[in-house]
Amino acid sequence: MNAAYRFDDWDSPAQTATPPSPVVNAESVTPSPAEAVAPVASERSSPLPGAAMAAVNAADKRIVNGKADINQLAPFKYPWAWEFFLKANRNHWTPLEISMAQDVHDYHHKLSPAERHVFENVLAYLTTSDILAMRNIGLAVMEKMSAPELQIYQARQVYEEALHTWTYQHCIESIGLDQQEIYNRYRVVPEIHGKIALANRRLERVMRADFDLTDRANLHEFALSYFFFAVIFEGCWFYNGFTPIFALQRRGLMKGAAEQLQYIMRDEVLHCAFGIRVVRELLKEEGLTLDPQALRELWDEAEAAERAYAGYILREPILGYNAELHVQQFRFVANRRARQVGVAEPFPGAENVLPWLDEQANLRKEKNFFETRVTEYQTGGALAWD
Ligand SMILES: [Fe+2]
Ligand SMILES: [Fe+2]
Repeated sequence: MNAAYRFDDWDSPAQTATPPSPVVNAESVTPSPAEAVAPVASERSSPLPGAAMAAVNAADKRIVNGKADINQLAPFKYPWAWEFFLKANRNHWTPLEISMAQDVHDYHHKLSPAERHVFENVLAYLTTSDILAMRNIGLAVMEKMSAPELQIYQARQVYEEALHTWTYQHCIESIGLDQQEIYNRYRVVPEIHGKIALANRRLERVMRADFDLTDRANLHEFALSYFFFAVIFEGCWFYNGFTPIFALQRRGLMKGAAEQLQYIMRDEVLHCAFGIRVVRELLKEEGLTLDPQALRELWDEAEAAERAYAGYILREPILGYNAELHVQQFRFVANRRARQVGVAEPFPGAENVLPWLDEQANLRKEKNFFETRVTEYQTGGALAWD
């Protein structure tokens, strides 16, 4: 028995009797010759290294390329980012709190083949998307932010993306779907793969740690990539992506999964709002304007990918929902996001064909209608989009 590896019992005698590996005690370690070298010059000159460093001024902070101490939280230059962090922490849940029992019955006995096709493929897309989102924020965006209040919210965001992945896995497992098949579906269905491939292409270069943001062309590419991620990937594709399952929920089907998605959507609304704020501040600080032609290409390829995806998941319409409604709603939400960033609407005249979707995003409303559990977010009324 290898009791020494237990991590829930720090006083276990086994742990002290047979240490599993050379566990070091910082106070008792004798430095190796290589570590026992003389201190660096700055340490030699003062008994308190760094004691003479200048105070941090909020005005010195920048979204990227800042020189202010990244380990010092305040004074804040972006107090709104700290508020996002506090707000996000009032939105806590786990997928285990929501019953999936009725969903198991619905999936096997009530959904039509077309509805099962929609449900499975939405999950297949979302689960891959959320891992991509987690990696993009955690590995590419966060390390390029040079103010800690921005990074702290993004650390929370990374956790939430992982929580979302857990949620999809919980749905897939509870309903008894074939995991091997579902998780591989994005690789074999071109219409699902298309959106993931587009996102990878748009985010790949800026994910590199050596991507030099002092170069103006790179800075523009970074802003455009972050715009793509926050505005389109999270703000349109995710926002719109839950809708087919909400359409089932409105008919009393798959209500557990739909409620899980409502909680995820609530997070995504914050992620999108935060990302839009960062993009706006970045453009202002750096005196940058997003190239209209580059934006046009971005919108067009995003719409084409969404149209192909909708054509696949809704190859047969379901009651109250079809591919054309899905695409129209994408165009309407895209216009809203563009206004929030302060760029031209990409699809002038697009109509709000699914007015109930915003109610769904706000979660606190229509509780009786959807017959979901009583628990509500504390911050349900905090967001107004228009
Ligand atoms: Fe997410
Ligand atoms: Fe997100």
